[in-house]
Amino acid sequence: MKIEVDSRALSEMSGDWLVIGLDERTILGEPVTLLDRELQGLLQRLIDNQDFTGKTGELVTIPGITGLDISRIALLGLGDPEKISPQNLLRCLVHSLRKITDKAVQRLVFHPWDMVTNSSLNPRRAAQIISQGAVMSGIGQGLYQTTQKRFEIGELVLTISPDSDSQDLKKALREGEIIGRGINIARTLINEPASRIFPESFAEIATSIAQEHNLHCHVFDESELRKEKMEAVLAVGCSSDQPPRMVLLEHNPNRDQSPPLVLVGKGVTFDSGGLSLKTAEGMQTMKCDMSGAATVLGAMQAIAELNLPVRVMGLMGLAENMPSSKAMKVGDVIRARNGVTIEVLNTDAEGRLILADALSYAVDLGASHIVDLATLTGACVVALGNDVTGVMSNNQSWADQVIRAAGESGEPVWQLPLFEEYYELIRSQVADIKNIGGRAGGAITAGKFLEQFVGTTPWVHLDIAGPAFAENSTVWGESGATGCMVATLVSLSSHFTHINKEVAPSME
Ligand code: BES
Ligand code: ZN
Ligand code: ZN
Repeated sequence: MKIEVDSRALSEMSGDWLVIGLDERTILGEPVTLLDRELQGLLQRLIDNQDFTGKTGELVTIPGITGLDISRIALLGLGDPEKISPQNLLRCLVHSLRKITDKAVQRLVFHPWDMVTNSSLNPRRAAQIISQGAVMSGIGQGLYQTTQKRFEIGELVLTISPDSDSQDLKKALREGEIIGRGINIARTLINEPASRIFPESFAEIATSIAQEHNLHCHVFDESELRKEKMEAVLAVGCSSDQPPRMVLLEHNPNRDQSPPLVLVGKGVTFDSGGLSLKTAEGMQTMKCDMSGAATVLGAMQAIAELNLPVRVMGLMGLAENMPSSKAMKVGDVIRARNGVTIEVLNTDAEGRLILADALSYAVDLGASHIVDLATLTGACVVALGNDVTGVMSNNQSWADQVIRAAGESGEPVWQLPLFEEYYELIRSQVADIKNIGGRAGGAITAGKFLEQFVGTTPWVHLDIAGPAFAENSTVWGESGATGCMVATLVSLSSHFTHINKEVAPSME
C-alpha cells in the first residue's frame, strides 16, 4: 500500500474515496465545512436530516460526486468522543472499510481529524491505527473463491493540517502499515487449509520471511528434535505423514548477547485430536490450531521491519495431530526436554505437550522474559467468550506489561489465576504430571501445566482459542482468522528495552 500525507484543501484531493470520520456530535471542522460549500451543503443536510448520526461504525456512502476529483465520499461514525480508544477506532475502521474494499480501491483519502482531535487519542496513534485498519480491510478468508470479493487499497492518503509534523505522521502511517501486514501474514497462514500449511511448508514460509527481513532462522528437523530431547513434540507429530518441525527466528539488531524476549507459538497445523479423536464438528476449524505460531511469525516480521532496538526470538513448535497406528496412545508417558514426565490421558490435549518442549527450550536460550500464544483450550472460550484472550502468568509485573500492551493495541484480554491449588488437578499417579486436569478450570489447568516448563523465567501464557478464528463475520470483523495479538506482541517488544531496565531488576 502506498502511503501519502496531504495538507491541501479537501476539495483539491483526488481519489476513489474520501472518508470523513465524525463522532456523534457531528460537528464539521473547517476543512469539511469548506468542502461542504462546494457540495452545496450536502453533508450538513445529511446530518440535519439524521441520515448520518455519527454512531459507532455507521457508514453513509455518497457515490457519484461531481465537480471534484473525488469519486465517492463516505461519512464514518465513531460514536461517543469520550469513548474513542484504539480498540474503538480500529473496530470502526475494519467494520466500515470492509464495505469499501469489496470493490477495487486505487486511492483512498482519509480525513479523521474532526473526531480524533477531540478524543484522548493522539494524532500519531490515530494515524497508525488508520493505516493498520486499511491494510487489514484488504484481505479476507475467501482465498479460493473464483470471484474476488476483497481488494487491497492501492494508496492511502491521510489529510493533515499545514502546521502538523508531516514526516512524523507519515512515519506513523508506515508503522501501522507494517503492523497490518504482520497481522495479514498471520491471517493468511491461518486461513490456508491444512493441506497447504503443514510443519514443513510452514517452516519454508518462515525461512523465506526470515531471508527477506534479515532475521536469523533455524529449522529443527526430526533428528535435531531428537538430539534436543524434544520428545513431546515428536510424540505429537509422529503419527502423521507430515513430520514435525521447530522453527527459531531471531531479531538481534545490536548483535549482542542480551537475554532475549522469546515469543513461543503453538503450531498444530491440523488438530484432529489424535486417537482421542474430535467430533466432525469439533474438527471443522482446526486448521486454525497453528494460530499461535502464525501470530509469532507475523509479529517477528513486523518487529524486524520496524527494526525495534531489542533482541527478540520467535519459537514455533509445529506438528500435525493425527490418529494412526504410529500415534501416541492414551496412557503413554513422555519425558519433556526439561526432564518432567507427562502421562498422556488425552491425545487431544496436544498443544501443551508441544509447548512443554518449546518453553523448556526458550528457558535454555537464556530468555529474560517469555510470552507463549496458543489456541489451547475450549475451556478458555467457555470462560471468556469468543473475543477475549486469556492471560496466565507466573509473574504479575510481566503480566501487567503484556496486559498494558494489549490495551494500547486495542485487543481485549483478561487474566485468570494460577493458584497453587490447581496443581493438584494435574498431578499424575504414574508420572510427574498428566496432560488433562478434568472439566473444572480447564483453561487454568492447561496454564498450570505449562508453568512446569518455564522455571523462574517471567512468563505469560495467552490462550487465544476464542479470538484467533471467527466462524462468522461479526459487525466488527471479517470471518476467518483475525490475526489477534500480533499488534500486542509488537507493542510489547517496542517497550521491551525499557521494561528490561526498569522492571527486570526488581523481579529478581
Ligand atoms: N486445539 C484445541 C483447543 C481449541 C478448541 C482451539 C476450540 C480452538 C477452538 C486443543 O488442542 C484441544 O483440543 N483441547 C482440549 C483439551 C482437553 C482434551 C483437556 C479441549 O479444549 O477440549
Ligand atoms: Zn487438541
Ligand atoms: Zn490443539
